[in-house]
Amino acid sequence: MVKIIYIEHGGRPHEVELSPGKTVMEGARDNAIPGIEADCGGACACSTCHVYVDTAWVDRLPPRKELEDDMLDFAHEPDTATSRLSCQLKVTEAFDGLIVRMPERQI
Ligand code: FES
Repeated sequence: MVKIIYIEHGGRPHEVELSPGKTVMEGARDNAIPGIEADCGGACACSTCHVYVDTAWVDRLPPRKELEDDMLDFAHEPDTATSRLSCQLKVTEAFDGLIVRMPERQI
């Protein structure tokens, strides 16, 4: 299992163990963690699963693909360095200890 730490905008942390192959979005949704809406269900078509990746993790994750990059333009206050769509982050063992922070709001 892979540990992912979600931090709500207000600072409340949630620690979850995920199986490899799940996405970071699914981990939040399946554990009822507030702050990730995921309206399109993971199709990279809504940008309501936006998170900020902890700066220590930015270079350790697979890079954004073009569609994710484009959809992030519709997110609330995206950050060019740390913003990701959590439905596009498929968990592997290398994600163990990943920290993501939720934005103030989605869209
Ligand atoms: Fe819609 Fe991620 S769930 S873009």
